Amino acid sequence: PAIWAVIPAAGRGTRFGGDVPKQYLEAAGQPLIAHALDALLGHPAVAGAVVALAAGDERWPGWTQRHGKPVLRCVGGGERADSVLAALQALPADIAADALVLVHDAARPNLRRDDLDRLIDAACTSADGAILAAPVRDTLKRADGDGRITATEPREALWRALTPQAFRRDALVEALRQARADGAVVTDEAMAMERTGARPRLVEGREDNLKVTTPADLALAEFLLARRES
Ligand code: CTP
Ligand code: MG
Repeated sequence: PAIWAVIPAAGRGTRFGGDVPKQYLEAAGQPLIAHALDALLGHPAVAGAVVALAAGDERWPGWTQRHGKPVLRCVGGGERADSVLAALQALPADIAADALVLVHDAARPNLRRDDLDRLIDAACTSADGAILAAPVRDTLKRADGDGRITATEPREALWRALTPQAFRRDALVEALRQARADGAVVTDEAMAMERTGARPRLVEGREDNLKVTTPADLALAEFLLARRES
């Protein structure tokens, strides 16, 4: 059964700063969004991708195919969840309701094949989907409003959510619609699913599958991608 990739790329990159939204910044010779697309479309099980772009985006290179697979586009929304929902609605009509979709940040250029393989394996056998995640490494402090430590939180059971996040299309659409109807802000797809009672599986992924948020992250991504290609 076909697996499709969904790439939210409608953000403005406020924390990064500058004029160019970070998904269009280049690292190792191509924009971050091209790295994200290639990582997914380069996998034999992935049939195509939908990208959600900001309204009036003039930087999108206009790709309709990569790796011989279709690349569809749609207009995203004000929140990440709106962009993902728009992309899910732009999937081809003949995709099965329970087809697996992989939601992956456009600003995450260093997704590796072994992580994708393990994520797809886990998602295929989990009723509630699966996400890549990495264990928290730092000691975690809770603070009061004055920035004073009130507690040190145990980190053993805490993970950082990465992408891709893999879910059945119809279940994810329903979860995102529900979150929107409830006025709930969900910062990733798993959170929308969790609100419906689902318990997605965590798949430990590589720490270097980083999301570019700041200029320092871009320098690190450049280093990681250059090292891969050499
Ligand atoms: N995204 C989106 N639609 C939105 C907001 C975010 O498609 N309304 C996408 C971004 O383009 C990015 C991914 O979701 O690929 C992760 O979001 P984030 O890292 O927060 O990117 P931005 O929202 O662009 O950055 P910032 O929060 O700093 O403005
Ligand atoms: Mg954002």
